[in-house]
Amino acid sequence: MNIQQLKEAARIINEGGLVSFPTETVYGLGANTLNSVAVAKIFALKERPSFDPLIVHIASLDDLKMLTENPSDAAMQLAKKFWPGPLTLVLPKSKLVPDIVTSGLPTVGIRMPDHQIALKLIRMAKCPIAAPSANKFGHLSPVSAEHVRKQLPDVDYILDGGMTTVGIESTIISVEGNVCTLLRPGKISLNDIEKALPGRFVFNTTKPEKLVAPGLLKSHYSPNKPLYIYNQTNVRLPDASGLILHGQKDLLTNSHKIIYTSKTHNQLEIAANLFSALHTMEDDATVKQIFIEPVTESGLGVAIMDRIKKAAYKYQPTA
Ligand code: TXA
Ligand code: MG
Repeated sequence: MNIQQLKEAARIINEGGLVSFPTETVYGLGANTLNSVAVAKIFALKERPSFDPLIVHIASLDDLKMLTENPSDAAMQLAKKFWPGPLTLVLPKSKLVPDIVTSGLPTVGIRMPDHQIALKLIRMAKCPIAAPSANKFGHLSPVSAEHVRKQLPDVDYILDGGMTTVGIESTIISVEGNVCTLLRPGKISLNDIEKALPGRFVFNTTKPEKLVAPGLLKSHYSPNKPLYIYNQTNVRLPDASGLILHGQKDLLTNSHKIIYTSKTHNQLEIAANLFSALHTMEDDATVKQIFIEPVTESGLGVAIMDRIKKAAYKYQPTA
């Protein structure tokens, strides 16, 4: 990445255009947070419903203070401990944040990405950058510049930083008084958050009936061909099946194409390679349907299974 490319990207952001940039989790589709018209272009390009709020990306704690209304001590503690990193904090917003960014909610989701290209872009553009994942609404998240080009060929500019390292989207936590609620699982677990805020806090996971945003819908992040969760041995798969495995050897069947996200069920490797494996199966015209091995739901496995279940949800026979 050279400085000219960063300058060009910052210029486009300042002129109200859209730039896709890498973060440690997935690629974002960014606009100047404070320019409502630019932010509206994100919703149009992604075909994203206007009720789904965006995450604002910042490069300094001063930005956090500017965008929120009296951030609590707890919020500041979490920001200091986990930023830059894959944690989004949902906090009461300040008047500066346009309603289009938060879909009219009184809160705003904020994070400081752990990626030099993202941080340099925010600093050069001199504005917080609102950015959802750079995919069409409901489709697979992009973990390479190529994935962005495939879904959003009309984006003004793409900063190519190669493959992202974490591979799944940030953990989202709302902090209200002394109650922390996990809105979306990610690499940083609720347990990590509990350890960082000893004693005085109540920790909740979201109840389905209390959905606050579509990122929490049952169906999301889907490939454009059927995907099934598959954990049986010795079953003959239909012709032209792709199989995504994370280390399980005895699931090997007659499948037409196999991709391993990991050879050893290593959760970091599975998370990093999950969306790439799904994109590769999606792009392969000889694969008609995809089967994927589930993972154990502990540690990072909670976030990995969350993405797998959402990707497969609309293709399940009972859906
Ligand atoms: O890792 C990530 O978080 C990536 C990178 C680009 O930073 N971004 C990302 O954004 O995954 P997106 O738009 O795909 O998901 C944002 C989700 C929304 O769907 C919503 O669930 C939640 O963040 N969100 C944002 N603001 C919120 C708010 N004020 N209240 C509740 N949820 C919010
Ligand atoms: Mg997304």
